[in-house]
Amino acid sequence: MLKKTTLITGVCGEIGQALLETLAEKKEHNIVTFDLKPLPKAFQGKSTHIEGDILDESILAHLANEYEFEVIYHMAALLSTTGEKKPLLAHEVNACGTIALMEIASKQSRARGERVKFIFPSSIAAYGLPDLKTKTEHYYIGEKECTEPTTMYGCTKLYCEKIGNYYSEYLLQLAEEAPVRMDFRSLRFPGLISAFTVPSGGTSDFGPEMLHAAAQNKPYACFVRRDVRIPFMVMPDAVKSLITLANAPLENLSTRVYNVTSFSLSAEDFEEQVQKYFPNAEITFEPDLKRQAIVDSWPADLNDDAARKDWGWKPDYDVTRAFEEYLVPNIRKRYR
Ligand code: SER
Repeated sequence: MLKKTTLITGVCGEIGQALLETLAEKKEHNIVTFDLKPLPKAFQGKSTHIEGDILDESILAHLANEYEFEVIYHMAALLSTTGEKKPLLAHEVNACGTIALMEIASKQSRARGERVKFIFPSSIAAYGLPDLKTKTEHYYIGEKECTEPTTMYGCTKLYCEKIGNYYSEYLLQLAEEAPVRMDFRSLRFPGLISAFTVPSGGTSDFGPEMLHAAAQNKPYACFVRRDVRIPFMVMPDAVKSLITLANAPLENLSTRVYNVTSFSLSAEDFEEQVQKYFPNAEITFEPDLKRQAIVDSWPADLNDDAARKDWGWKPDYDVTRAFEEYLVPNIRKRYR
C-alpha cells in the first residue's frame, strides 16, 4: 500500500542532516531520504534511506510508485565552487534532477487531487551584482533585484525557481480542466553555518571553515578579502525557515520565492567573532581571485520583509546568540 510520506533528497548534505534530525524528532512523518551516500550512522533508523543518483530514472520510478509524497524537501545539489569545476554536471544535477523530481510531485498532485508541496533551497547565488559599487549602494537586496547570476549554481537555482513557479501556476494551462498542480515554495538562503557539519564545495564556506579550523587549533588561510561582506544564518534557523514555509497556508503567500536571512558579516567581522572565542586562532587572508569574484557578485545583505510579513519569519539567532549559544559551545564539544 502507498504510504503518505515526506521525502528529503540530499540528506547527507549539511541542510539535509539538520532537517532530518528535526523532522524525525517531531514523529509526524513517515520519512524517506535519498542521497548518493549511505546515511551516516547517527541518523540510521530515522528514515527509510534510498542510496542512489537523482538522475537515475529507475530509482525515481521506484520512489514515485512506492510512496505518496505530501512534502518533498529537495536539498540535493552541487554547490557554487564545485559547479564551476563541473558546470555540465551541476546543470544535470541541479536543473535536470530537480525537474525530474518536480514531474513526480506534479503527477502525484494530479493523480490524488492534492497539491504536493515542493520545498526548494535557493540561494544568494541567484543574485549577481555587476560591481562592488553596486554591492555597496544596493545593500538590502529584494527578491526582484539584480538577478543576473554569474555561476552555474546560481543560474540553476534561479531557473528552478521559475520552473517551480511554472509547475505550480501554469502547467497544462491549455487543458480543458485546470489540473491540480504541485505547490512549489523556495527560500533564498544566505551562507549557512552549522556547528555539526562543515560545508564542501560552496563559496560562502570561508566563514564556517574559519570557525571550525580555529576550534581545532588549525591555521586557516581565508580565500576572500577582509572587506568581503555577505549575509549568514545558522543551521537551526535555516531548518526553522524551511519547515515554517512548508507549513504556511498557501493563501498567505504573495510569492513562491522568499529571501531569508539573519546577520551580515564581512570576512574581517567573522574573524573578529572567531578571535573572541578562540584568541589563539591563526587566520590569514590569501584571496583566491576567482572565488573572490563570485562572492563579490553576491549581495551584502538581503531584504527578507516579504517572508516576515507573509509567514511570520524571524530568525532565532542574531550574531551574538549564534556564536555564544549555538556555534561555539557545540563546536567546542565536537572537537574536544
Ligand atoms: N552556500 C552556497 C555556496 O557557497 C551559496 O548558497 O555555494
